[in-house]
Amino acid sequence: MPPKLLITGATGLLGSHILRAAQENWHVVGTYHRTARRQAQYFFGEIDHGRIDLGDYSETKAMIADVQPAAVIHTAAITDLDYCEKYPDDSQRINLNAAIDLAALCSDLDVPFIFTSADLVFDGAGAPYTEDDPPTPINVFGEHRALAEEGILAAYADAVIARLPLLIGYASLGRESFYHKLVSSLRNEQEVTLFGDAVRTPVSAEVAARGLLQIAGSGFEDDVNVLETERVVGRLHLGGRDRISLYELGLLTLRILGLNERLAVPVSVLDTYAGHFQTHFLAARSANVALDSSRAYDLGYDPPAFRSQLEDLLPEAWRAPDHDNEPSDDFQSLDDAGDSTDD
Ligand SMILES: NC(=O)c1ccc[n+]([C@@H]2O[C@H](COP(=O)([O-])OP(=O)(O)OC[C@H]3O[C@@H](n4cnc5c(N)ncnc54)[C@H](OP(=O)(O)O)[C@@H]3O)[C@@H](O)[C@H]2O)c1
Repeated sequence: MPPKLLITGATGLLGSHILRAAQENWHVVGTYHRTARRQAQYFFGEIDHGRIDLGDYSETKAMIADVQPAAVIHTAAITDLDYCEKYPDDSQRINLNAAIDLAALCSDLDVPFIFTSADLVFDGAGAPYTEDDPPTPINVFGEHRALAEEGILAAYADAVIARLPLLIGYASLGRESFYHKLVSSLRNEQEVTLFGDAVRTPVSAEVAARGLLQIAGSGFEDDVNVLETERVVGRLHLGGRDRISLYELGLLTLRILGLNERLAVPVSVLDTYAGHFQTHFLAARSANVALDSSRAYDLGYDPPAFRSQLEDLLPEAWRAPDHDNEPSDDFQSLDDAGDSTDD
């Protein structure tokens, strides 16, 4: 029997990618919250365990006692920044308290616990950020991620705090991820305004999922015997190798699809602060939160070039036949994370 991997948030963008990638080597147990069991089964097949409110400590404790996992990847969260800003108590309950509770329960079992934190613990003024840089959150979501990191390490010093970059991919269950919405609008030839100074180090949800499984399994070795290999612990950045703004992400997508580059319209995060550009956002957005992920690269995390990750997500059938899809000269600077993208 393979070791049991518990994935919280198994119906989410990241959790669903981990769920699929983990089947090969693990006995996978997943949890979710609002999704109906029937719906989850339709998309993912039978998932051991199922619905739970991780904000309810007694439910969580009973679930851990029942599952007895060999490792846990905690992706369940409220990820809507503006919702967190409007309902900070909900955010605190799930994004902070539930994460610390789960870490403490995993500490009791002495099993690997991986918390999926975010580049948004940083304000954007000091990129690229290493694991040693202190968090500087500027919205409720970022603040609760940062406090959770601290609380988790206090409850369980051997926990892993995996800070993830912007994740690119398609969600299951008919939900629309950020990238799904972007691609749909661009393919419908609708103009999209995108921050030219919001620089990230994105990876696909699939690449992040595989990185997290490497950590859960054996600290970047091939086999998954969690008991016999040295565990990765502490903070670890799992960013991609390319630094790219959201506007450049739009441009790159348009180039791959062979569509008119004018559909992507650059705006500035700083302009929203100054009131020069109105948005419906409640939560402040960070500008450049590029992650320095050298520690993970040294351990064996090896995200492919970002363009090739995007090409995997954009089927040939979507590409306009009469356009040259090769990158233009100015694009090369994106592929090698040129300084032009790093304000
Ligand atoms: N997406 C990104 O670009 C990104 C970037 C950096 C870091 N991350 C981190 O990656 C993790 C996953 O993000 P994601 O985008 O995959 O999230 P997501 O798509 O919004 O999914 C969230 C998951 O959490 C579950 N959940 C929510 N409230 C719950 C509760 N009270 N009890 C139990 N489960 C609950 C949801 O279940 P139901 O759907 O069934 O309600 C869903 O499975 C988060 O920790 C986030 O900070 C994501």
